[in-house]
Order: sequence, then C-alpha cells, then structure tokens
Amino acid sequence: MKAIVYTKYGSTDVLQFTNVEKPAPRENEVLVKIHAAAATIGDVIVVKGEPFPVRFWSGLLEPKHKIPGKEMAGRVEAVGGNVKQFQPGDEVFGDLSVCGFGAFAEYVSVPENAIALKPANLTFEEAAAVPESAVVALQGLRDHGKIQPGQKVLINGASGGVGSYAVQIAKSFGAEVTAVCSTSNLDTARSIGADHVIDYTREDFTQNGQQYDLILAANGYHSLADYRRALCPEGVYVGTGGTMAQTFEAMLRGPIISMTGSQKMSNMLVKPNKADLVFMKELIEAGKVTPVIDRCYPLSEAPEALRYVEAGHARGKVVITIGA
Ligand SMILES: NC(=O)c1ccc[n+]([C@@H]2O[C@H](COP(=O)([O-])OP(=O)(O)OC[C@H]3O[C@@H](n4cnc5c(N)ncnc54)[C@H](OP(=O)(O)O)[C@@H]3O)[C@@H](O)[C@H]2O)c1
Repeated sequence: MKAIVYTKYGSTDVLQFTNVEKPAPRENEVLVKIHAAAATIGDVIVVKGEPFPVRFWSGLLEPKHKIPGKEMAGRVEAVGGNVKQFQPGDEVFGDLSVCGFGAFAEYVSVPENAIALKPANLTFEEAAAVPESAVVALQGLRDHGKIQPGQKVLINGASGGVGSYAVQIAKSFGAEVTAVCSTSNLDTARSIGADHVIDYTREDFTQNGQQYDLILAANGYHSLADYRRALCPEGVYVGTGGTMAQTFEAMLRGPIISMTGSQKMSNMLVKPNKADLVFMKELIEAGKVTPVIDRCYPLSEAPEALRYVEAGHARGKVVITIGA
C-alpha cells in the first residue's frame, strides 16, 4: 500500500511517500481502508520529535511508529475473529494516537475501541477532521472548564482546528460565545455561531475590561497574568497548547493560582476515548457542529500539508485525501 513513512526525526523533509506492506488485522482488530486523514500540529510534533519530552512516548532516539497521522476516516475492509462492533463496509472514524498512529496510509489495522461509526451526514474528508480536535475542545470545555448554559465563554484561536470546534461545542452547551481570531476569519467565526467576535490584530481582549466565566485558549497567545484579568473572579482558564514556556507556566503556576484563589487555571491533555467520539458523532448528526475545512491535499503531498499547518494560520482543519 502507499504510505507516508519516516525513520528518523526531523523537519517534514524526512517524510517519504513510498510503498509498504498492507497490514492484516489481528483477532481483536479492524482493517480500515482509509479515505481521508487530517494534518495536525500534533503530527508535526511527532515527526520532529520536538519538544523533546514527546520522545518519551514516541521513541527516544528514533520514531517508534514509522507512519504518522492520527485523525482518520474510512471504510472497514475486514475484521478479526474477536471483533464484535464492526463489519466490513462500515464507515468509521477515529484518533489513532491511542494505537500507534498510521493514518497517512491507504490501510490501517486498529483495535475496535479506537474507532466509532462515522457521522452519517459527513463526507470522509469532513469526518477525518473531527476525532482529536473536536474531542480536545469537548474535554476542554466540558470536563476541565465545567461549562454551563448562559456562561460567557471566550475562545482564543477560534478559527483553528481546535477553536472552530470549541466555538460550536460551547454554543451547543448554551453558552454566550466570544471568538477571538484575525480579520480574515471573523466571518467564519460568526458563521459557526459565535455571538461576538474580536479581531486580535485590532483589539486585545485582555485589556478591554470584559470578563468571562470560561476561557479556552487553543494556544497560549498571552501570559496567565493577562488571562486572569479577562476572567471573572471565579472564572476558569483552560489552555490546550502553546509554546513550551506557556505550557510550563500553566503547569507550574496554574495549580498555585487555582489553590490560592477563586480562579482556576490549567493546561489540559486530551484523553482520546470512544464515548467522546460517539458524543461528537451525535452532536454532528444533530446539526450542532460542522467541521470547518481549510483545504485538502493528496497523500503524496502530506509533507506540504504539515508545513501549511505548522505555519499556524490554517482556517479550521487541513485534510489529506487518500482514496475513494
Ligand atoms: N492538549 C492536547 O491534548 C492537544 C491535542 C491536540 C492539539 N493540541 C494543541 O492545540 C493547539 C491548537 O491546535 P489547532 O489545531 O487549533 O491549530 P493552531 O495552529 O494552533 O491554530 C491555528 C489558528 O490559530 C490562530 N491564531 C494564530 N495566532 C493567534 C493569536 N495570536 N491569537 C488568536 N488566534 C491566533 C490562527 O488564526 P489566524 O489565521 O486568524 O491568525 C489559526 O486559525 C496546538 O498547540 C496543538 O498542539 C493540544
């Protein structure tokens, strides 16, 4: 089968488009013919092996898993003898970071609990854009942010892969949502349901006197001190990404602020799981969430897709189309 392969850490130039052996499903596995995958900043991180701590699970000296890619959608081609939940022909989607990556390929063999039936109203390209980014946003708002109906919620980085889901998920929980993005993305933010938009190139929301019950920051973008000003006295800040400095600040200072005051501040790590995939499938089928796709690349151009994502200005998700 065709796949994108890397055998050493480095820039996206280390990725090779080549032929590898097609996998066969073990007893508890499902063989999926992948139709589409998503290119994410997380894929760039595992290809580079940077920041270094990522290597404690991706392989210390060289990558443990040779085919990158975590978010994917496709059709079940075959199932192992112990598989109970799927049969050939089922359309599925999933986050392969729980089972060794491998979405940048024509086929993957995965444990049945890593995937779920794909939302019936989405194309494979749209479904591939969901599994991790949407679940990060969901867990950030619901589990870490304890979002409540009527709350004032601000999403910083609202036009990116995580943020475009966060806006829609926050709306589905009944929040009043403010989206922060750049000028060219204001209309997209409004179109996915944001009640208010702030153009970060013209206005700094941490300086305008407004306060929010919950802030989800897709990346850091500001210091914790800035975010504290924009939080209500009992507000919650959840960061999903950012520079090493921002992540460490949230990891070290966040718990101290949370213990010594009434505001809560933390950075989160997604916990991929089937229940949340199914939760997102239902929200999508109910018409409450729609993936925002910036652009699609063929599998052979996956390195280019990752370079585009790495530049940090994708509007929604970037998808790799693999086959019909
Ligand atoms: N915690 C976890 O478990 C977990 C899991 C997955 C991903 N992540 C992390 O989540 C973060 C977000 O991922 P993502 O897919 O949404 O991609 P991203 O590259 O962070 O987001 C791109 C968006 O950020 C916007 N942006 C850039 N600078 C900004 C600024 N100063 N203020 C506000 N928005 C700005 C861009 O909008 P403009 O083009 O309008 O500037 C673009 O739409 C990444 O750091 C990723 O590593 C974390």
